[in-house]
Amino acid sequence: MEQKRTAKFNLGNSDQPTEFPILSGSMGPDVIDIRTLHAKSGMFTYDPGFLSTASSSSEITFIDGDKGILLYRGYPIEQLAEHCDFMEVCYLLINGELPTVDQKVIFVESINEHTMVHEQLVRFYSGFRRDAHPMAVMVGVVGALSAFYHEALDISDAAHRELSAYHLIAKLPNITAMAYKYNLGHPFNYPRNSLSYAENFMHMMFAVPSEEYKPNPVLARALDRILILHADHEQNASTSTVRLAGSSGANPFACISAGIACLWGPAHGGANEACLAMLEEIRDDTRIGKYIDRAKDSKDDFRLVGFGHRVYKNFDPRAKLMRETCHEVLSELGLENDRLFKLALKLERIALEDEYFVSKKLYPNVDFYSGIVQRALGIPSSMFTAIFATARTVGWISQWIEMISDTQLKIGRPRQLYTGVPTRAVVPIAQRK
Ligand code: SDX
Repeated sequence: MEQKRTAKFNLGNSDQPTEFPILSGSMGPDVIDIRTLHAKSGMFTYDPGFLSTASSSSEITFIDGDKGILLYRGYPIEQLAEHCDFMEVCYLLINGELPTVDQKVIFVESINEHTMVHEQLVRFYSGFRRDAHPMAVMVGVVGALSAFYHEALDISDAAHRELSAYHLIAKLPNITAMAYKYNLGHPFNYPRNSLSYAENFMHMMFAVPSEEYKPNPVLARALDRILILHADHEQNASTSTVRLAGSSGANPFACISAGIACLWGPAHGGANEACLAMLEEIRDDTRIGKYIDRAKDSKDDFRLVGFGHRVYKNFDPRAKLMRETCHEVLSELGLENDRLFKLALKLERIALEDEYFVSKKLYPNVDFYSGIVQRALGIPSSMFTAIFATARTVGWISQWIEMISDTQLKIGRPRQLYTGVPTRAVVPIAQRK
């Protein structure tokens, strides 16, 4: 971070303006460093929803919302999706550089050492109802990993932090697949480390003891790309949740569980499941206009799910890549005329020609197509956000490692604008009217 200039504010507490440093990063907007504001003025900033707040500095992911740019450690998401697999992207997010062939071999071997889960953890599943939402199961089971690793974990030790990352990256597909199998009443599948990460995930999700299962390489590549596209995304709500939980020194498994809980919301990672439900409700082209009108009606709380983004005021680059992946998967499966995909393409075209969406810069986001492609892969909509959480775990744990490694780390403790009742005396109950 570099200070090139200062911001001067008349805070009303002196006839001299109060100065604050303006810091520049390597890319993107500068920030006004207001860490001394309260000490200098007795005041706080006020920014519910953090529309204008940088909560941290980070070297991991960069987004330019106006240009529709997404970089992981400086590499454009389009190039990573084309040239890399998810294991390379995991290595990149954690270590800051793409692996060489040898480094990748060692990394994959390290991950594969931890793909199994403790048999006692497997017993957690039988405590849930069979129809429990997979995200409810994941919040519980991932949080429960704390019970298996908490003692052996010294988060001040870089090796322990890295091992926690390997545990989580390795075990999430297994935990997620078991949530799906539990819903179905199927037996769980043990991981098969001879398969790639995505193929192993599909094996654990879809194999049954009575049949030989061989993952379709085109579909496995599509799933691998979905994982890459969802891996990290700067300081979104769930990543901010992981960071805030981690700032107290909580163990990484509990922090990732908190991130999963936050991601579940329909305004965030739950949008892919909600988007498919919306497309099913719209059902056919003739009803698109009615739903576009509802989305534009300020008195109607209906929103076009999969559209809009706090940061992207242009196309979410992941949405374009997801649309391509949709085409590839549907073609591989002979589903080019898939009803919902054609409906989504038409809905996107109509919305992007509508003044309301154009003026508010509402474009398709990562969730708009991800549901359709996951449905085509045979993944039920109840599992969409669980797949998102599995992918985002590497981003969450990379951001957690970056934060915990910071020697200047302070516990996150926002303040507030108090609008409640001013000080008053308690009247004993016998005298209360
Ligand atoms: C993800 O932050 C991340 O990086 C998240 C994510 C990640 O990778 O981690 O990218 C993943 O969460 C993607 C977003 C998935 N959510 C949805 O698709 C749900 C539908 N979208 C919206 O609810 C909304 O666009 C948000 C939540 C995504 C963003 O909301 P903001 O930035 O708080 O914007 P806003 O709600 O203030 O909306 C601004 C205006 C409003 O109209 P006015 O009050 O100005 O008249 O745009 C309107 C909104 O009503 N608007 C929409 C809309 N999204 C915003 N109107 C209709 N349909 C929509 N989808």
